[in-house]
Amino acid sequence: MSNAQQFDVVVIGAGPGGYIAAIRAAQLGFKVACIDEWVNAKGGPAPGGTCTNVGCIPSKALLQSSEHYEHAGHAFAEHGITVSDLKMDVGQMIKRKDTVVKQNNDGILFLFKKNKVSFFHGRGSFTGSGANGYTIAVTGAKEETLEAKQVIIATGSNARQLPGAEFDEKLILSNTGALAIDAVPAKLGVIGAGVIGLEMGSVWRRLGAQVTVLEGLPVFLGAVDEQIAKEAQKLFTKQGLAIHLGCKIGAISKGKNDVTVEYTDAKGEAQKAVFDKLIVSIGRTPNTNGLGVDKVGLKLDERGFIVVDDDCKTNLPGVWAVGDVVRGPMLAHKAEEEGVAVAERIAGQHGHTNFNTIPWVIYTSPEIAWVGQTEQQLKASGRAYKAGTFPFLANGRARALGDTNGMVKFLADATTDEILGVHIIGPMASELISEAVVAMEFKASSEDIARICHAHPSLSEATKEAALAVDKRTLNF
Ligand code: FAD
Ligand code: NAI
Repeated sequence: MSNAQQFDVVVIGAGPGGYIAAIRAAQLGFKVACIDEWVNAKGGPAPGGTCTNVGCIPSKALLQSSEHYEHAGHAFAEHGITVSDLKMDVGQMIKRKDTVVKQNNDGILFLFKKNKVSFFHGRGSFTGSGANGYTIAVTGAKEETLEAKQVIIATGSNARQLPGAEFDEKLILSNTGALAIDAVPAKLGVIGAGVIGLEMGSVWRRLGAQVTVLEGLPVFLGAVDEQIAKEAQKLFTKQGLAIHLGCKIGAISKGKNDVTVEYTDAKGEAQKAVFDKLIVSIGRTPNTNGLGVDKVGLKLDERGFIVVDDDCKTNLPGVWAVGDVVRGPMLAHKAEEEGVAVAERIAGQHGHTNFNTIPWVIYTSPEIAWVGQTEQQLKASGRAYKAGTFPFLANGRARALGDTNGMVKFLADATTDEILGVHIIGPMASELISEAVVAMEFKASSEDIARICHAHPSLSEATKEAALAVDKRTLNF
């Protein structure tokens, strides 16, 4: 008889993929354990993964604080509000962010209790398998051994380093350091004009840093609909982000208090820039550190992702993997959807993740959000389509808000009118995109949206108008 604690399902990792999978499995009646190794500043557990600790949540907290500051400095005057002696207390902003993070950590611990999920704080590693299923050692403050026939791996991802420029989180920062800068740097360098680079670059620009973004590709936001990406580049540049495309990064050297980046610009000319801090945001790599994959023969691909099929099944019976550690977009809600679907599959149900309707949001100002295909993807696939756009400039609510930049764009099949993609740049795009996701899930046509009553005055009227624009019959433009 083994001394190991027996569970029906063991989940390794308590990020959005893992903690949601654990809760759903418990709801379905399984005896569930969830292991997570994240340690907070006091040495205690901090479930929630990258998303809660150094990702989605803290970045949105800083985006909010910096947006308030920018509004107070620039937008309030138009409303007749005078602010004198405006100051930014970066320490307080970071403290508030830490409080928001802790509220989310505590919320997950509460949810584990509520759903009777046994939480283990430490690293989970496969040590073998036998008649009781897989054996997983937990190493941390307390050593434990768990056994289960079903294991869900949700170990997430880490920031990718540039060779020769290791993160020290003081001068060369990953997302972790970028979210904990304690004073506004005069000159901030960012390598990679992706989601993190633009969100973090926006935070520190709003607070007064001179921000330079060096991007390797010759195009800006290549995965975004071209029309929307062009608009974004124009607006971000106007706001003061210096975006340089087509850069080939060379040597990066650290001084006592600065970092020098040598690069070749798009014209092929050698350049040198000196920054007080440098954020490197060039994508993320899957995390299987210390998981003991070789102990059980778990298959990884050449880039280190755990190999899974469409149902998140690995090569091992009863072992599943979800979230950033497997193929697909590295998004919290994608991880959650996969976690729920896997728990339901273990229960013999037909969990499903629709990859065609996963929304993307970039939380800059204006926000960028989209779902489905871009115009360039439709052109490349040869699908006949119709497009309709509507500018927020012609939307009453956007005018009242004083936030009229951007547009909503619909792409629909030329024959059936089925919505194939919706792309938004503008105020509250993150919220507006939900209507498009629902519409696409229900295989709606653009006419369906055009015929639905939208509240007035609301930003969502721009969505209705863009749907009307597909048929060239906007009412307010
Ligand atoms: P993670 O959240 O990385 O969680 C994995 C967990 O597993 C971690 O807690 C880790 O400590 C633990 N772990 C790993 N190995 C072990 C082990 N062997 N034993 C025990 N525990 C282990 N996505 C969005 O959708 N919206 C956003 O706004 C957004 N903003 C982001 C901002 C930033 C700065 C970053 C970096 C990412 C952002 N993301 C965002 C992406 C999002 O954070 C990830 O897609 C998401 O966290 C992936 O969830 P996951 O559960 O797969 O992994
Ligand atoms: P990213 O993939 O969004 O962007 C990386 C950028 O770096 C790309 O534009 C790429 O061309 C560029 N790049 C790569 N190598 C380079 C090099 N050597 N030199 C110069 N440029 C180079 O990755 P990022 O920003 O690191 O974010 C990682 C992931 O985290 C995102 O893909 C996303 O999945 C997730 N995330 C999601 C957010 C959201 O949903 N709002 C916010 C932040 C992150």
